[in-house]
Amino acid sequence: MPGLAKFAGSPDGQMRNCAEYRVTPSIMDTLRDATRSRHAQLSASPAMSRLFDVGYNVAEYRSHLGRLLGFFEPLERAVACGADVAGSIPAFERSSALHKDLNTMGATPSDIAALERCRWVPSIDPASLYGYTYVILGSMMGGKIIVKRLRSVLGPTASFHFYGNGNGRPEALWTSFCLDLEKNGKHNVEAICAAAVGIFDAYAAWLSEPSLQSGNY
Ligand code: HEM
Repeated sequence: MPGLAKFAGSPDGQMRNCAEYRVTPSIMDTLRDATRSRHAQLSASPAMSRLFDVGYNVAEYRSHLGRLLGFFEPLERAVACGADVAGSIPAFERSSALHKDLNTMGATPSDIAALERCRWVPSIDPASLYGYTYVILGSMMGGKIIVKRLRSVLGPTASFHFYGNGNGRPEALWTSFCLDLEKNGKHNVEAICAAAVGIFDAYAAWLSEPSLQSGNY
């Protein structure tokens, strides 16, 4: 179990309460604790629950992706702006995946340009970059379930670059991210958690806000 040291025999020969042997939690445990309730709320939000509704259709899905583009484009810009000159920015290309999906599903460049963009994405500095990576990579892992469901409901006209196309790339990235986080994130745990929480909150708020454009495009 993460965060627990192995039991050892105590000096008086008694097995002590688990809590006495609790060691410092891993950074991943801390991040999960900070964001667990937000993940649960966001997954159960009306916008995300619709993805699993029997009546969901391609027009609604396209509109959902348009809304997501309005979040991811400014978020990726904020990450690029806040990046350390020497540091590397994780390139998840979520907004380019959304562009591909929207193009495939018939959106023109002017439809895409007209989509509303979020004006209050959190700023991400180099100390908090792991928080961003956690949320984005984690959401790609959950995307597998979404793709599986949507493929069966929406049929061949829908495009799934954003939700991962059901390929295995997120797992490989996730494994190396976990190692990197524990090795290099320890001096910035607070900033990392705050960034992850901030992104979850902004994401949920953006999806819950009615779009200014009807049907979003
Ligand atoms: C209906 C919507 C969603 C469902 C059903 C869902 C489902 C899941 C599932 C099953 C996992 C575990 C994946 C695995 O370990 O292989 C996961 C992980 C995760 N998801 Fe979601 N997810 C949803 C939406 C989101 C959204 C919108 C975000 C972020 C904006 C998000 C962020 C994460 C994160 C950060 C993790 C990693 C958790 C960890 O292991 O610490 N998810 N999700």
